[in-house]
Amino acid sequence: MKAGRSLARDFGEVQNLQVSRKGPGDFVSNADHKAEAVVRDILTKARPDYGLLMEESGEVAGRDRQHRWIVDPLDGTTNFLHGLPLFAVSIALERDGQVVAGVVYNPAMDELFVAERGGGAYLNDRRLRVAARRDLHDAVMCTGIPHVGRGNHGDYLPGLARVMGQVAGVRRLGAAALDLAYIAAGRYDGFWEYNLSPWDMAAGMILIREAGGFVTDMTGGHEIFGRGEIVAGNEIMHRHLLDLIGGTGQRG
Ligand code: IPD
Ligand code: CA
Ligand code: CA
Repeated sequence: MKAGRSLARDFGEVQNLQVSRKGPGDFVSNADHKAEAVVRDILTKARPDYGLLMEESGEVAGRDRQHRWIVDPLDGTTNFLHGLPLFAVSIALERDGQVVAGVVYNPAMDELFVAERGGGAYLNDRRLRVAARRDLHDAVMCTGIPHVGRGNHGDYLPGLARVMGQVAGVRRLGAAALDLAYIAAGRYDGFWEYNLSPWDMAAGMILIREAGGFVTDMTGGHEIFGRGEIVAGNEIMHRHLLDLIGGTGQRG
């Protein structure tokens, strides 16, 4: 919440923010760094021994080898810098290599998504369930579209063409952690994206599983972090997406 307040303040002054580039088309603002410092401070005070994997400061090994926080202090930086209120702080807790808790918070909409293994997923205290839709023609899918400097554009497009020919709509929100939280909330029926990092996906993965959904890599396996790719949805939509895009081999 505190990191969210820092982002909300900066969002109000987005024109004045100092912005640099991590690489082509990849922005980082001082809002990312500020939010990360706030999150790191709170997590380290609460659990001094846990390790951390944070987008801006990388891996910080902890004395406790079992536990690791995985943090994206600002997911949706491009939206943020364009004044689009679609961005979030994403925090997950990993135990022995398994994500066991996750939080995604969009301060612009004051939406807090939380999940703990075995305890269900919630949006501002309301229990979440993935969408129940079964017919592909009724489905609204979400994806991440490669952009300048990122992804193998030519290999991505055939999969998108197959999906768009079958569904009611395809959206590109621009914040993977929120995209996944929206699957948990039943707002989208399915999601797929390549070239993601653990901090983009970790919290969203447990939100979806705790909301009764399915999350795998493009082969239907569990190498989500290793391969940097994700397919999600209810059982049926997840299967449809795997059939439509699985094995297209877009690695980038
Ligand atoms: C990005 C967002 C975006 C996804 C990119 C990510 P960032 O994270 O999640 O939706 O398509 O691949 O890198 O850079 O805004 O934290
Ligand atoms: Ca991100
Ligand atoms: Ca980020």
